[in-house]
Amino acid sequence: MPRATTSPVDQRAIADADLLTSTLADGAHPIIEVARLRKAYGSTVALEDVSFAIVEGEIFGILGPNGAGKTTTVECLSGLRVPDSGTVRVLGLDPQHSRHAVRASVGVQLQEGSMPAKLTVRELVDLFASFYANPLDATELLELLGLTAKCDDYYKRLSGGQKQRLSIALALIGNPKVAILDELTTGLDPQARRETWSLIEGVRDRGVTIVLVTHFMDEAERLCDRVALIDSGRVIAIDTPAGLAEREGGGNHMRFHPSRPVDDSLLTGLREVDRLEHQGDRIVVSGTGDLLGAVISALATAGTEAKDVRLESSTLEDAFVRLTEHPSETSEEDGRR
Ligand SMILES: Nc1ncnc2c1ncn2[C@@H]1O[C@H](COP(=O)(O)OP(=O)(O)OP(=O)(O)O)[C@@H](O)[C@H]1O
Ligand SMILES: [Mg+2]
Repeated sequence: MPRATTSPVDQRAIADADLLTSTLADGAHPIIEVARLRKAYGSTVALEDVSFAIVEGEIFGILGPNGAGKTTTVECLSGLRVPDSGTVRVLGLDPQHSRHAVRASVGVQLQEGSMPAKLTVRELVDLFASFYANPLDATELLELLGLTAKCDDYYKRLSGGQKQRLSIALALIGNPKVAILDELTTGLDPQARRETWSLIEGVRDRGVTIVLVTHFMDEAERLCDRVALIDSGRVIAIDTPAGLAEREGGGNHMRFHPSRPVDDSLLTGLREVDRLEHQGDRIVVSGTGDLLGAVISALATAGTEAKDVRLESSTLEDAFVRLTEHPSETSEEDGRR
């Protein structure tokens, strides 16, 4: 019997790769490709259908509500978790079949990593460095992460934020081509968060591709070239943070105090207004077009003025909330008060 050159599974993988690369800009080189990933834990389906491609050198954010499947996704990327179906390619390799090659080139910071209690910071970093062919300089990396003074302390003696800093050091010590960071700055103080962002930008500038799972919208806006929003095991949007905010954030917001009470219908009836919300005695209207002009004219017809006016563009957080809002969680009163 003649041997087939490609199995049905291979053909599916090729079709998946075509599907993904067609969504990237011309000439963009995908370094990570994930297609139709599915993973269940018993009866819990963590990933229904996750596909995306990450371009070499970008910081790619993965956002989504608790339990959406973010950690499961990055665990599949790093070879720590075996998907039930779908394809994963990291640097062109399948993390399951080429475990060693992928581990040598990918640094991983786990959301719930734990280390042997009776190793010191320095011993842990040296141990991890010994796994790699061209590790970074441990002393410099510890200095960059503000851990020099803690070098001789046991892991179990570190504070939560210091453990977090150490986990970042361990993800980067191998001088990886790809760094996967699951909740990079959770537990860090504001100063340390900013220092970590600068560190990550420096790492990216050296050509490292970064996959960043985060719940912080300011972090995603500052660092990420593109973000994927995952909800209930599916990718529901992929875009730049600014593109997502503009496309899905619900337009601009105008906040003001009315000088006299107004009937909501005066404003909700305007073409420019999509949504109206009360925040204490302030009104927030969201919409598009000349929102400010339309609202001020409508108020004037009712003998009312807008005081303490603030205009804001929609944010990534607005887009996140709107896209992951499930109908049962939406108040009946929204937009109708
Ligand atoms: N080891 C496991 N065994 C059983 N179920 C699991 C396991 N890990 C995750 N799950 C379930 O899979 C789903 C996705 O979990 P996952 O950890 O990927 O979510 P996440 O998006 O990272 O959430 P978070 O923002 O809270 O970190 C959840 O419903 C979770 O309860
Ligand atoms: Mg997680």
